Amino acid sequence: MFSIVRSLDHLRKQILSWRNEGLSVGLVPTMGALHSGHMALVSRSLEACDRTLVTLFINPQQFCEGEDFEDYPRDEQKDAKKLKTAGAHFLFVPKFEEIYPNGFSTGVRVSGLSDLLEGVHRPGFFDSVATIVIKLLNQTAADRAFFGEKDYQQLMVIKRMAHDLDITTVIEGVETVREDDGLALSSRNIYLSEKERQTAATLYKTLVAVAKHVKEGNEVAAQEDWGRKKLLNAGFSSVDYFSILDAETLLPCIDASRVKRVLAAAKLGRTRLIDNVQA
Ligand code: PAF
Repeated sequence: MFSIVRSLDHLRKQILSWRNEGLSVGLVPTMGALHSGHMALVSRSLEACDRTLVTLFINPQQFCEGEDFEDYPRDEQKDAKKLKTAGAHFLFVPKFEEIYPNGFSTGVRVSGLSDLLEGVHRPGFFDSVATIVIKLLNQTAADRAFFGEKDYQQLMVIKRMAHDLDITTVIEGVETVREDDGLALSSRNIYLSEKERQTAATLYKTLVAVAKHVKEGNEVAAQEDWGRKKLLNAGFSSVDYFSILDAETLLPCIDASRVKRVLAAAKLGRTRLIDNVQA
């Protein structure tokens, strides 16, 4: 049985009835425009939990000045159809007031992790993400919540927050889903022109090449530089960052034996792409 709920009261009643039946609940938070990347989160939730609850809320607070809040793709009916077909149980589409009641004045901030990489280019972004995610975790009291590794820094921020604030929901990362040429799926890929779409695959290919070079023992700073130049030569208009960092702390790698992550953000015309791989 699949249903769409818009009120928190209704959501809580449903969750309580699942709990009374001893059923576990998986949460997949989204901003809609669902693609196969989101559906991989849903599949993982269906595998790990008895009931899967997807949320759809385009959080205005996490769009910076000049970003695409107005244009962000919206198609609730299509999303609902996909979820129903996949076997998800509930779609929660909260009204703005359910998330930000009149007078809302609280925020969650994960310092350090939120200030690097994306945080430099999108000030306040992770504060808004952490705040909405903790609200959704509290509203749903889910056993597990699923987030894509495509937004790796977001995943690390949420894990840190859950750990620091004694949230009992298990935060699980799910591998990035890619097109055949390696481009990570993203709701914003629709903004790419045909030519940009062809160039876009260079991002993943460059990340993979750099990860290989790092594993072979090449110097980190030289590889960051190599990666940045490779993207600019391929036709990216600018590179916000190309960084090889400790996979857990996202700080510079001091201990060579620790797992690393190669992360990049670059612009192709009006579209900003981000991606990452393990090294
Ligand atoms: O990754 C997203 O789609 C959003 O940042 C999230 C986690 C749904 C919070 O609005």
